[in-house]
Amino acid sequence: MASSRATARQRQSPLSDDATIAAQKRAAARAAAELIEDGMRVGLGTGSTVAHLLPAIAERALKGLRCVATSPATERAARALGLKLETLDEVGELDVAIDGADQIDASGWLIKGGGGAHTREKIVAVSARRFVVIASANKAVSELRPPVPLELVEFGVHDTLSRLDPARPRDVERSPDGGVIADYMGAVGDPGELAERLSATPGVVEHGLFAPELVSLILIAGDGLEVERRAGGKPGG
Ligand code: 5RP
Repeated sequence: MASSRATARQRQSPLSDDATIAAQKRAAARAAAELIEDGMRVGLGTGSTVAHLLPAIAERALKGLRCVATSPATERAARALGLKLETLDEVGELDVAIDGADQIDASGWLIKGGGGAHTREKIVAVSARRFVVIASANKAVSELRPPVPLELVEFGVHDTLSRLDPARPRDVERSPDGGVIADYMGAVGDPGELAERLSATPGVVEHGLFAPELVSLILIAGDGLEVERRAGGKPGG
């Protein structure tokens, strides 16, 4: 157990401190791993917070877990830890999906897709009865700001980008399904309105705005590594 001096040091650490952020990601991930039970069908997100989740799940040695990964990186890491991976089509409905986020606002809107995996992440989030978001405290924001990640069809991508101006493609980044990854750089304003506009633009496969109705529970670890629980708009918070 950490000494009280170490705990005091942790509390004083600035949020920009990489070690503090990593410890918060780990604390949120470990809290989420406790929600998983024997026999569950589990969606695994993508990113450095999820990288802490995978060993926390594996350590629990639960029986009969069936996991679905949202990216090749998560799939490789989960397999290396002995977790059983299947496709979403094999597993069907998921009991729970757990994933990180780039930004979380006070009303529960998320921006995701920093790792370019938001299309698969959204499909998995929708397929899960409970979608749990895990994050360090620096992800909680008063207002969502650009960039908003996009996955675009390659055909006519320059036209699509010009209709979304200001938007810029990421250097040679492709989604696991071959889509062009780009970022919308305009103001977010009302996230619901922007989400509708992005979804209505031909050539946009998916955007990284996740509505509160998709989210059951948000676990945010703070400076002292205490985990704040926020209920989302989907049942199971
Ligand atoms: C990947 C994502 C990630 O969940 C998001 O970028 C957060 O990443 P990290 O946990 O590394 O901070 O949406 O597409």
